Amino acid sequence: MSSTAGQVIKCKAAVAWEAGKPLVIEEVEVAPPQKMEVRLKILFTSLCHTDVYFWEAKAQDSVFPRILGHEAAGEYTVVHAGSVAKINPLAPLDKVCVLSCGISTGLGATLNVAKPKKGSSVAIFGLGAVGLAAAEGARLAGASRVIGVDLNPSRFEEAKRFGVTEFVNPKDHSKPVQEVIAEMTDGGVDSSVECTGNVDAMISAFECVHDGWGVAVLVGVPHKDAIFKTPPMNFLNERTLKGTFFGNYKPRSDLPSVVEMYMNKELEVEKFITHEVPFAEINKAFELMLKGEGLRCIIRME
Ligand code: APR
Ligand code: ZN
Repeated sequence: MSSTAGQVIKCKAAVAWEAGKPLVIEEVEVAPPQKMEVRLKILFTSLCHTDVYFWEAKAQDSVFPRILGHEAAGEYTVVHAGSVAKINPLAPLDKVCVLSCGISTGLGATLNVAKPKKGSSVAIFGLGAVGLAAAEGARLAGASRVIGVDLNPSRFEEAKRFGVTEFVNPKDHSKPVQEVIAEMTDGGVDSSVECTGNVDAMISAFECVHDGWGVAVLVGVPHKDAIFKTPPMNFLNERTLKGTFFGNYKPRSDLPSVVEMYMNKELEVEKFITHEVPFAEINKAFELMLKGEGLRCIIRME
């Protein structure tokens, strides 16, 4: 039992006062944990697009001031006991902290939801950290063709290290990208994973899977007003559309096994970490995310 048990503690947090404005590091009070809650000390964290999404006020419940969730929380945070996972104590926290969100999301979307068969074809829409994690899942599952789709050609070189074998830039074609993929794959891919958050990419990801057995998985977080539209015939032709949150992993029970995949050297985590900044420079991490520079930026608490 620590000396602060049951007491309010003061610590630093990066507070968002207004949408789109730099965060301000301020002293905040963290309440003692109530029944079934745990107060955690944060050593390393990493920003993801959910934090940026709240910061840009694109989420429905964006109220300010706020301490952005979930990775951008203050030095300490209080969470429900059911949201805490106990992982291998030997795991390096400055690496495995990225597994708490986007990387597990992409990986699980492929391994747990799309479930590509060995030798099958997979299309990945969006080659940011989440999409590359989905590609890593396709590699681990033994997919033989992994088609990466992105509007930004600078993503392609990097994606090769994540098992992506072919690239399609929708901007290079006059016809819809789903038609381009159908031509490349004799009717469509066996499965697709959408990791952009763009609703048009979601529609393309669904329409590019083969009829009869194709499965498309939606991962990216869409704008709150976005509407998914597709001819219903696509369902009658036995294409399946699925969506997933956190790659269908149950954090408390499943996250330790994802960490073990890293510890066993199956899953490569280092290649997702392109930057590291001290907590005082958290705004730099936001800039990197917004510019689309690098994949994940670790924030080190001082
Ligand atoms: N078609 C193809 N690629 C697209 C499209 C599109 N219509 N729109 C965006 N992209 C590409 C971007 O060029 C970028 O390379 O998708 C990629 C998204 O990568 P990041 O911005 O780095 O995002 P990431 O962290 O991987 O998260 C992806 O998943 O968790 C959600 O909310 C998150 O929606 C976001 C998505
Ligand atoms: Zn996240």
